[in-house]
Amino acid sequence: MSDIIMSVENLTKKFPVDGGKFLTACDNITFNVRKGETVGIVGESGCGKTTLLKAIMNMQSPTSGKIMFRGKDITKLTGEEKRQNYRHIQMVFQDPTAAFNPKMKIRDIICEPLINFDLIDRSDIDSKARELLTQVDLPPDFVDRYPHNMSGGQRQRVAIARAIALEPEVIACDEATSALDVSVQDTIIKLLVKLQREKGITYIFICHDLALVSMFSHRIAVMYLGNMMEKIDGDKLKSARHPYTRALLKAVFSTEQAKNQYIEILPGEIPSPLDMPSGCPFRNRCLNCQELCAKEKPPFREIEANHFVACHYPIDIA
Ligand SMILES: Nc1ncnc2c1ncn2[C@@H]1O[C@H](COP(=O)(O)OP(=O)(O)OP(=O)(O)O)[C@@H](O)[C@H]1O
Ligand code: SF4
Ligand SMILES: [Mg+2]
Repeated sequence: MSDIIMSVENLTKKFPVDGGKFLTACDNITFNVRKGETVGIVGESGCGKTTLLKAIMNMQSPTSGKIMFRGKDITKLTGEEKRQNYRHIQMVFQDPTAAFNPKMKIRDIICEPLINFDLIDRSDIDSKARELLTQVDLPPDFVDRYPHNMSGGQRQRVAIARAIALEPEVIACDEATSALDVSVQDTIIKLLVKLQREKGITYIFICHDLALVSMFSHRIAVMYLGNMMEKIDGDKLKSARHPYTRALLKAVFSTEQAKNQYIEILPGEIPSPLDMPSGCPFRNRCLNCQELCAKEKPPFREIEANHFVACHYPIDIA
């Protein structure tokens, strides 16, 4: 399809660990990203979200698989070609302070990517920084501040201003709002949506919070222990059929339920990624588990248009 701008194909990342073993952080992940959409990737801590994003950002090579972007497998890029690729994919982190030099003023922080790519004259830095601050709804005179003189929400707006400075096609967000108060989270999401409408930016938004992701993602992918379990259009999320997604949904929407209504809680612990169960990775916590689930790993298959599930017995929600 012509509107696909990135294809992640069979991406696997294994880390060597003690005792000659390997930890599989991402296992054969496949998905497409369409121009101008938001793909939300959710899952509990340790399920492989950041590992996936690092591969997309070319910060870490995968063990196998490809990421096709602008006609090339970006996992194979090196040297200047790899550096130039960063012009088109930018990232927003959970904690922007860690990415900012505390001794630099906001003006220089925001324009640093433009300076690095030699895309701005020194004399234009101040006006460009003011223009970018306005785009993220901050006062232009914040150019003279330092990062520590701002609130967490304001710092995240600066991080977004810096990310859009190069006019990238894709912005990858790793828990970009997770450290913020709920009310501030909401304003940052509204800003991201506004910028997407104005500039056609594509977001890959990684987060552990399904409720938040469901607010604005066009498509949602659910990960568990390095595996993609379900991928579904955002507006169809309530029709999700994987037992894990259903359990997450119950937790998300439990506040809407009557007080005395039974809320299903996932039994069991997440297994160690170094001691994965045979068959389905979710089987020790799944209320639907049957004999086949221990024998065969369920394939990630399309059960209806644009709806993929890795489960032998998807829940019938009709
Ligand atoms: N460099 C590494 N060496 C060994 N194991 C690693 C390395 N980086 C990540 N892992 C492991 O890979 C798995 C996935 O980690 P990852 O950071 O991608 O998870 P995550 O979904 O981003 O978690 P969180 O929500 O806590 O940020 C974890 O079990 C983690 O311990
Ligand atoms: S394959 Fe089996 S264990 Fe895994 S989610 Fe489906 S029903 Fe549950
Ligand atoms: Mg992470």
